[in-house]
Amino acid sequence: AAYAEQYRPQLHFSPAQHWMNDPNGMVYFNHTYHLFFQYYPKDIVWGPMHWGHAVSKDLIHWKQLPIALYPDSLGYIFSGSAVVDSGNTSGFGKNGKIPMVAIFTHHDPKREAERHEDFENQSIAFSLDSGATWTKYANNPVLKNPGIRDFRDPKVMWYTAEKKWIMTLATQDHISFYSAPDLKNWKKESEFGFKTGAHGGVWECPDLFSLKMAGKTYWILVVNLNPGGPNGGSATQYFVGDFDGSKFTPIDSSTKWLDYGPDEYAGITWSNTGDRKIFLGWMSNWQYANQVPTQAWRNAATIPRELRLKQSNQGIVLASAPVPELTKINRGVSVSKNVMVNKTLDLSTKVGKLKSQYVLKLSMAQLKAYTLKLSNKKGEELLIGYDAIKNQYFIDRTKSGKTDFQKDFSGRFMAPRLTAAKNSDITIVVDKSSVELFADGGLTTMTAVYFPDGDYTGLTLNADSNIKVDSIVVTALKSIWQ
Ligand code: FRU
Repeated sequence: AAYAEQYRPQLHFSPAQHWMNDPNGMVYFNHTYHLFFQYYPKDIVWGPMHWGHAVSKDLIHWKQLPIALYPDSLGYIFSGSAVVDSGNTSGFGKNGKIPMVAIFTHHDPKREAERHEDFENQSIAFSLDSGATWTKYANNPVLKNPGIRDFRDPKVMWYTAEKKWIMTLATQDHISFYSAPDLKNWKKESEFGFKTGAHGGVWECPDLFSLKMAGKTYWILVVNLNPGGPNGGSATQYFVGDFDGSKFTPIDSSTKWLDYGPDEYAGITWSNTGDRKIFLGWMSNWQYANQVPTQAWRNAATIPRELRLKQSNQGIVLASAPVPELTKINRGVSVSKNVMVNKTLDLSTKVGKLKSQYVLKLSMAQLKAYTLKLSNKKGEELLIGYDAIKNQYFIDRTKSGKTDFQKDFSGRFMAPRLTAAKNSDITIVVDKSSVELFADGGLTTMTAVYFPDGDYTGLTLNADSNIKVDSIVVTALKSIWQ
C-alpha cells in the first residue's frame, strides 16, 4: 500500500516520493489549506528546488498535487510565502477572480558559481484557479539583491492599519522589512537583529504576525537559524515585541526558541487564517537531512500547531499545541486516573497495539523526575522525560535505532522548563519515526525524529522515587493516509 514504507510518517505530511525541505506558501483559501514545500522531484537529496504542493481541508489529511513552481532562467525556486490578494492590489485578478500570489526567492546557481554575491532575488507568481496552476510575473524579480549573499525567504502579510503589504526578509545576519502597495514595488522600511538574538548561523525563513493576550496585541517575529540551534544545527528562534508598520521593536532581549528539539526547522505560519495562528515546520535538521535512512522520500513536516501567547518565567512566550483537528483521526481513548508509580509502571498494554500512532498525555499535581521509555523487541529505545535537577525536559535517541548515518544524529537533547508551576503536564505525539513533546501547556516544545528497526511497542514510566500521576490519557490515532 502507498505510504506504508518503513519509517513512513502516518500522522504527518511527507511527499509520496523524493526530497522535501521547508514548508512554503502556506495559505488558507476557499476552505482549503495549501502547503507548498521545497521539493526536488528527481532524488532523495537536496537539488534544484521546485515548489511541491499539497492541500488539506482539515490540516490533517493531505493530498499531494502536481508541482506548482519549476526552476527557470532566473534560478531555483527557494522558500517564500503566499497571500490571498482579496483587493486585487496586484492587478493579477481577472473577471472578479481573486488572485493567490506567491512571493519567493529566485536563487540563481549560475551567478552563485561565478562567485557573485547577488544571486538571490525576490519574485512573484499568481494563480487564478485556487493554486492549481501558476503564472510567473513577467517582470520578475520584483526585489533585486543589493549585494547581500543570503537574501531570501520572503514572508508577506497585509498590514491592515496602513493598507499595505509587509515583506519580512532574511538578509544574512538580520531581518529587512519592505513594504509595497501592490506586491510589486517594494521599498525598504527598516532592519532588525544585528545585535539581538542568536547568531550561530545564517538567519533564514522569517515570519511576522500579531497575536493577542489579555486584550493586548503583540507582534511576533520568527527567525529560523542554521546552524546555532540550542541542541545543534537548525532551529527556530523568535522575538516578542511591537511592529508599527515600519519597525519591529522587541519587548526584551532574551533569545526564545519555538521548539528546542533537533528536528523542527524553517517553521512559519499560515496566512489568511484570521485570529488563529497555525505553525508548521520541516521535521529535520540540516546536519543530517540528506542522510536520514529513508528510501522513497526524505523528510516530513511537523504536526500543524496552534500558537498562543502565555506568561512564563522567560516573560511572554509562544506556547504550541497540536491543532485540535488532530482529534479527527482518534480511534479510541484510554484514561487512567490517580496512578501510583513505584520505580516502574508498565504501560505496554496501552500502546503495544497502536502501531506507533498515538498521543499520550501525563498530568501531575506535583512534578518529580520521570522517564518514559519507548522500546521495541530489538532492544532499541527512546527516552523522554523530565530531569528535576536540571529542571529540563529531554529526549534521548542514543539507542533509538539507526543513528550512525551522521555523527550529530545520536544524542540527548535538553530543553528548559519555562514555568515554576507545581503541577505539570506533558503531551507526546508519537508517529513511526518522530515524537513531538509539548510540556506545561506547550511552553516547552521539542521535536525529534528516529529510525527504529520496528515499532516501539513497549512503554514504561520510570521514576527514582514514588510518584503520583493524576492522569494518563492515551489516544490511538488512525493513519492520515487511510
Ligand atoms: C532553509 C533554506 C532556505 C532556502 C531553502 C533552500 O532550510 O536554506 O533559506 O530558501 O532552504 O532549499
